[in-house]
Amino acid sequence: MDTSDLKKLSVRYHPSVEVGMTSGVRTCRPDSRVAIYIHIPFCATRCHFCTFAIVTGKSVTHDIMEDYLEALMKEMTHYAAILKEQRARIETIQIGGGTPTILGTGQLQHLFDFVLETFDCSQLEEIIVEGFPTTITKDKVDVLSRIDRLKLNIGIQTFNEANLAGVGRRHSLSDAASTVKLAQDANIKSVGVDIIFGLPGSTIDDVINDVNTISTLGVDHLALYPLWVYESTAVDRKIQRGALVRTRFEGLQQQMAAGQELLVANGFERYTAFHYTTSDAHKHQYGLWQMRAREWIGFGMAAMSYMNGEVVLNEKVLGRYIEKVRGGLLDTGSGQRFTSDEEMRFALQYGLRLRPYLLAQFRESFGCDVREVYGQELQYLSALGLITCDERQIDLTPDGILKLGSIEKYITREIAAIPSEQH
Ligand SMILES: C[S@@+](CC[C@H](N)C(=O)[O-])C[C@H]1O[C@@H](n2cnc3c(N)ncnc32)[C@H](O)[C@@H]1O
Ligand code: SF4
Repeated sequence: MDTSDLKKLSVRYHPSVEVGMTSGVRTCRPDSRVAIYIHIPFCATRCHFCTFAIVTGKSVTHDIMEDYLEALMKEMTHYAAILKEQRARIETIQIGGGTPTILGTGQLQHLFDFVLETFDCSQLEEIIVEGFPTTITKDKVDVLSRIDRLKLNIGIQTFNEANLAGVGRRHSLSDAASTVKLAQDANIKSVGVDIIFGLPGSTIDDVINDVNTISTLGVDHLALYPLWVYESTAVDRKIQRGALVRTRFEGLQQQMAAGQELLVANGFERYTAFHYTTSDAHKHQYGLWQMRAREWIGFGMAAMSYMNGEVVLNEKVLGRYIEKVRGGLLDTGSGQRFTSDEEMRFALQYGLRLRPYLLAQFRESFGCDVREVYGQELQYLSALGLITCDERQIDLTPDGILKLGSIEKYITREIAAIPSEQH
């Protein structure tokens, strides 16, 4: 498999939708159950593999964060009233990014106070907050520790210094470990970390060391992702010019197998394609919610919503997002309404990440058997050894996990076949 084939493996964080078809107004059905996503689009620098919607560097100032929070809260106030009117039940909230923990301590406190007061959080199961090691201070973990049912998730990626530096992560190994300790000492009840394997230069021993270090730190949750190399990222350019060496597919297979095996031996259970936990209480319900293709409403720049059969993407440019909301335009983006076929393909695409994806779930949502509607697709993926499918459930195989990006494009009919080089 050459470099361009490996690129096709990368998953997308958003489904491919043709926004611009609808106004971007999110509609909420009465008595529905929803999740909330809040996007904090700021980072000190951009990691070389990252394609998230963020701003970095000198443009990240206290004032711009204040302006952004003001707009964000205006958008949320508007929709909180609608959600209340429709008696929507809010079950999970994720504050993601970007780097939510880059906000000042006072700003973080203000954001939590606002969210908890503005939305009806009486049925809330969790609030997940994503954080970057060097931005998580004692003052901030104190704020977080006072929030009921909060789960902190910290991006660590690896405990190999050279591999970390190779992809432009600006934190040290001791920053990563001490941040976890800081959060645990502050009595945050659920602390998770993200690890990436297959970074340029990484070996099976690195994955083993990462998993053992994480296990020793005693975290409650772990995301173990392969490195997805997206086109035109700095990591992609460095690989192109030979400054970094890409991990081959066989290497990814071996590293993932070693990591998975050790995690299970260390007491973790895998509950999605990429997520592990030490107990059910620490599962990230927000991710599960999306994988079950339930409705969620996203707030902030470039946030995505999936409500009432429609996908909406908010304005992607920070200045324009702030200006639009300031000017009274609370729906800053646009959307696309799914046909029933698109809706079912969307559900199947996300559902495959679940472990297991129960056929009963698809039947419950759409009143039909996924094997009857998409039998041909499922047979094809089974024949390639990318999924297993029986009377009860569908599961990605290890190769299926690594080739999820291609599988998703195949299911949404962007490609007619999984490229043969990847078999
Ligand atoms: C919003 S970030 C987490 C918080 C914080 N921004 C950080 O990076 O430490 C979400 C996670 O996505 C994962 N991620 C981002 N880009 C990725 C890529 N190209 N391949 C694999 N994982 C990626 C990383 O593990 C990262 O921790
Ligand atoms: S800190 Fe996180 S969100 Fe920011 S650039 Fe790095 S991976 Fe992306």
